[in-house]
Amino acid sequence: MSVLIKNGTIITAVDEYKADIYIEGERISAIGENLSMKAEKVIDAAGKFVLPGGVDQHVHYSFDYKGEKVRGFETTNAAIAGGTTTVIEFVNQEPGKGIAETIEEYDRIEAAPQAMADYSFHGVICDPSDKVFEEIKSLPDKGISTVKLFMAYKGLPFHSNDESIFKALKASKDAGVTVMVHAENADVIDVLQNECLGKGQTEPYYHAVSRPVTAEVEATQRAIHLASLAGAPIYIVHVTARKVMESIREAYNGGIGVYAETCTQYLVLDKEDLAKPNFEGAKYVCSPPLRTKEDQEVLWEAVDKGWLNAVSSDHCGFNWKEQKHMGINDFTNIPNGCPGVQDRLAILWTYGVEKGRISRQKLVDLFATTPAKVNGLDHRKGHIGIGLDADIVIYDPDHTSTISNETSLHGVDFNIYEGFQQIGKIDQVLLRGNMVLKDGKYVGKQGQGRFIPGMPFGLCYGDKK
Ligand code: URP
Ligand code: ZN
Ligand code: ZN
Repeated sequence: MSVLIKNGTIITAVDEYKADIYIEGERISAIGENLSMKAEKVIDAAGKFVLPGGVDQHVHYSFDYKGEKVRGFETTNAAIAGGTTTVIEFVNQEPGKGIAETIEEYDRIEAAPQAMADYSFHGVICDPSDKVFEEIKSLPDKGISTVKLFMAYKGLPFHSNDESIFKALKASKDAGVTVMVHAENADVIDVLQNECLGKGQTEPYYHAVSRPVTAEVEATQRAIHLASLAGAPIYIVHVTARKVMESIREAYNGGIGVYAETCTQYLVLDKEDLAKPNFEGAKYVCSPPLRTKEDQEVLWEAVDKGWLNAVSSDHCGFNWKEQKHMGINDFTNIPNGCPGVQDRLAILWTYGVEKGRISRQKLVDLFATTPAKVNGLDHRKGHIGIGLDADIVIYDPDHTSTISNETSLHGVDFNIYEGFQQIGKIDQVLLRGNMVLKDGKYVGKQGQGRFIPGMPFGLCYGDKK
């Protein structure tokens, strides 16, 4: 199949220019003005922006919180509808099994048959042992170049202590595997949660009260010190607040290889959403919790200046009625996490670009290019360039709508961005040259998504091909 996209304005992380794109098979084979190749399909993108498909490096399609499971890969069409053509899933290592073994099984049974977007994996260390730390060294051979450890969630099977984090960092560095951490002090949170519950403070708002910024700052700084001791880089996921970002910026400026993302919800929502009546606040329970409006502005500045490197969704498809209600009498039982993979581009465009907080190039960088690089996928993803996968979003800027769960493909019963304005519309999406979204409607099929191996850091671009 050959496709010619004509007359569009291409946006990359570094520039913006009018050009045509010629796609042969699954890859981009030419970019230039007035291309005259014959193509089986011609798309007129006049008046529209042409962006690389998004890479969402932080999604959960297998997450289990106290027995409540999120919607799975059968909802990955929501990613496509949101302009994200690659998702990177956190797979919790099963007790007694290896990281790669767990991932291979999950891929075979859940991901490969159902995926509608391309995908890769982070291995989450849940059952640490010398064998598992040894295994890290061979993960890149299986296309896994990232592992994650949770410093938070005391008592849950995926919580890790400092010993595991330090050992993982030491094992990872020579293998080119990036260690990611969820940085919150689990013990402090446990004490504060029990204090709240002891005082009868059971409502969703106390989720935020019991997880103060300082618990995130402390864990972030500890993780950075552990990385520095191990001589390894570290990636901090879902940064929420000024003081956390400042700890990261200071360490980076001091020469430590610390990188970090924030997530869409921390840019536009705040902890007062947790105080919504009639248990509506439970919809906004995610960890770390939503912070303040001041933190939102700091995070926008941080992503613009490059102090934080990516914006992910931390997508978690829990239902409000049956699942979030588990915590109706105790906020610690509310499943943590919010849906949002479909809304990342809309929020970045409307509240970032249109509000003058970030440029269109910066949007592409945060949405696609840097997450592809961080996860070793830039040999195929995250950029519009010759030889790369033809993952393309055609964005119509002359359109305004309102975000609503009615048009969401998340497969859950609420949307945390309900009623938010969306300027522009994701008109068409190509996944490796195949049309998967047409006139805003999903037209792909299950099983169309492919596993994309993540390359270890330290290889130059040419080596990765
Ligand atoms: O609340 C959240 N973020 N849930 C998903 C798991 C995690 O902590 O990333
Ligand atoms: Zn987390
Ligand atoms: Zn997460």
